[in-house]
Amino acid sequence: MLDFEKPAIDMKNLSKSFGEHSILKDLSFEVPRNKIVTILGFSGAGKSTLLKHMLGLLSPTSGSISVLGQNLQDLDEDELREFRQNFGMLFQYAALFDSFTTYENVAFPLREFTKLKEEEIAIRVHELLSSVGLEESSYYKLPSELSGGMRKRVGLARALALNPRIMLYDEPTTGLDPITTKMVNDLIVSMAEKNKDRGMTSVIISHDVKASLSISDFIAFLDRGRIVEYLPASEFAKSENELVKRFINL
Ligand SMILES: Nc1ncnc2c1ncn2[C@@H]1O[C@H](COP(=O)(O)OP(=O)(O)OP(=O)(O)O)[C@@H](O)[C@H]1O
Ligand SMILES: [Mg+2]
Repeated sequence: MLDFEKPAIDMKNLSKSFGEHSILKDLSFEVPRNKIVTILGFSGAGKSTLLKHMLGLLSPTSGSISVLGQNLQDLDEDELREFRQNFGMLFQYAALFDSFTTYENVAFPLREFTKLKEEEIAIRVHELLSSVGLEESSYYKLPSELSGGMRKRVGLARALALNPRIMLYDEPTTGLDPITTKMVNDLIVSMAEKNKDRGMTSVIISHDVKASLSISDFIAFLDRGRIVEYLPASEFAKSENELVKRFINL
């Protein structure tokens, strides 16, 4: 059973090594519910590795991780696969199915994981696509016929299809032009707002300090496998941590 009193994600003394290489180091970290939390850090700090633990795609060498009150180590592979339906994911490359239209991409998780009828799916797909600001003219286009920004919108609509409790974003704006970057950041905030009532937590991995300061509730800084700073976004720019100061002033 999901426990809605517990934090969205709770890591306790989590360590991860690959062979001799210790990547995450005795990390304790809580993501509160219904907030937007950004994890910043230099390349190679372990951010994506951390995200994979949240999804149960990797398991810790020691320590524990609970998501929505559920200890992930207590789940077997099948249970984990089922549990992942609590997550929506948007990655750097929207990872759409190239041979599927916009409509089919968004309908895919609904067809795969729900028992909705085609008419109900149609209603839901329209709802999702209009919530990310896509017009009907793009519903029957292939990803190759869409701009980068539109592909992100489709990816986001698909990620939200199953009403995830937790949205994970791994570098959602890396490689995008400034205008598309702003659009994606605005969308992240507006999706968090729209889904607040039913409860949705957002975890973002990013290099973009300026955007993080304006869209997040909390910001963590991961340095070589350790969380060395974790503050409300409004206080993050005043951090006394030398590495954080350097990162902000880059
Ligand atoms: N499966 C693996 N086996 C061995 N080493 C790994 C594995 N996955 C990640 N690593 C190592 O762990 C370290 C952290 O990688 P990770 O991808 O988590 O960093 P990151 O903070 O996401 O970096 P970036 O900002 O470049 O995406 C790297 O040194 C990487 O080589
Ligand atoms: Mg990464």
